[in-house]
Amino acid sequence: MQKIIFLNSLVLIIIFLIFYFNSKKSNNSNDHFSKEEYYIEDNLERYLKYYKQNENKSFSDIVREINCNLDYQFYNGVERSNSLDKILILVNKHYTLDKEFEGIDLVKVDDKFAYYDKEYYMNKEAYENFIKMWLDANLEGCDFGIYSAYRSYDRQVFLYNNYVAVDGAEKADTYSARAGSSEHQTGLAIDLKSRTKKTDYFETTKEYDWLLKNSYKYGFILRYKENTEYLTGYQFEPWHYRYCGVECATYIYENNITFEEYYEYFVKNK
Ligand code: DAL
Ligand code: ZN
Repeated sequence: MQKIIFLNSLVLIIIFLIFYFNSKKSNNSNDHFSKEEYYIEDNLERYLKYYKQNENKSFSDIVREINCNLDYQFYNGVERSNSLDKILILVNKHYTLDKEFEGIDLVKVDDKFAYYDKEYYMNKEAYENFIKMWLDANLEGCDFGIYSAYRSYDRQVFLYNNYVAVDGAEKADTYSARAGSSEHQTGLAIDLKSRTKKTDYFETTKEYDWLLKNSYKYGFILRYKENTEYLTGYQFEPWHYRYCGVECATYIYENNITFEEYYEYFVKNK
């Protein structure tokens, strides 16, 4: 009888200790997460769940990945982009625009800045800053032209379907947005080509080097940087610049984060 009581007590003590250490561990994790620079309180449950599935990742990686919604697969758990965010609007594989969205405050781009003999439209504020940027770059011997700016939803359907026909959906998804997921639909994104060096490799041009160092001063960011595919959903695109205003672009430049991270912490979270 005494032996049974002893064994029962032992089991209870063990159960208590398991609960105790588990809750301590969980409290410790809470503390670690809350000390992270881009910690968002509303995301705590998701950090903890993701941490359980990825215990080898650092706390800062978990915060970064959850803030980029990586606990949802791309194109799953999609929300509408918030047009009230204006120049800070996020459009990606988690935040999408509907078919009726026809850009933000579009103006026609002067032919002088167009790479091909075509009409291009872009956001007015972005365009004004683009001109300043272009003029300053030009003074330093650079010359680049726009070869894509605003694109309608239907245009993106056409482009994406063509890419899928050539490369298959899996590959196309690494470099082309599905309709509704392209920030070209806002008028805030532009694709650039060098006019001093004919090449498909914009990253080998002096224009690319100049933009990399200076575009933030005019409110533009290199949107799909190297080694950020897993966060943004797109491979490195040296030609694709996104206008988000000088404050945002400077922060992103100085802190080397993605627009996804900036948006979740500074725009959506405020
Ligand atoms: N190439 C970029 C990701 C787009 O299609 O919008
Ligand atoms: Zn682009």
